[in-house]
Amino acid sequence: MQNPIIAALDVPDAARALALAEQLAPAVGAFKIGKELFVAEGPDIVRRVRDTGASVFLDLKFHDIPNTVAKAVASAARLDVQMLTIHASGGTEMLRAAQAAADEAEHTPLILGVTVLTSMDETDLAEIGIEKNPAQQVQHLATLATAAGLKGLVCSPMEIAPLRKILPDDIQLITPGIRPANSDTGDQKRIMTPAEAINAGASWLVIGRPICGAENPRAAAEAILESLAGLAK
Ligand code: C5P
Repeated sequence: MQNPIIAALDVPDAARALALAEQLAPAVGAFKIGKELFVAEGPDIVRRVRDTGASVFLDLKFHDIPNTVAKAVASAARLDVQMLTIHASGGTEMLRAAQAAADEAEHTPLILGVTVLTSMDETDLAEIGIEKNPAQQVQHLATLATAAGLKGLVCSPMEIAPLRKILPDDIQLITPGIRPANSDTGDQKRIMTPAEAINAGASWLVIGRPICGAENPRAAAEAILESLAGLAK
């Protein structure tokens, strides 16, 4: 099994991000760089994290007209990121344009569709004119994204099993909301342990505070990896 842990570098500056990346690189499969760090430090932080030898998941959740998203995907691919996110609600044309830009790149990144943000409930969806409940809307957008050619989706732990039932086997599911047994849940509400999520069918686990906030981040990552030993991915 390849190492399925993606450590979220949810820190505000390069110094802290690189200290974590250097310490954790041998113990994780990739690092997630999101808006906070990217907006503060720019594309150079991607290059510097890549220099540790680790893969990068660029989580900027693109959502724009198809041409603009395609160009952003091409720019991200030039940074040699392994994965990046776009909003599936951008529609088929945007999704296809993004995937085409990825396919044309020298290093094709895995494009991950974001369906419904877990911060949104049924009332929030109704407010923006969506009559489906979140579970229905997740399935709707997951089907749309994969029909448009995407090979990966971000989903919550509780969505893994229902999505596995309706999606082709080669679709990769990337899952945050992961908490090792006995760890602090923080603001995450619907959580699974790393082993539960892999058993449910997750391909990758996005883990932030349980690793990066630990007294010894490297030991925390290694303990999680150990909890996955013997599980099929
Ligand atoms: O610290 P924690 O493990 O909760 O971090 C999870 C990471 O995954 C954070 O970067 C968070 O923004 C991201 N995420 C999430 N839930 C989602 C989508 C992304 O926790 N639905």
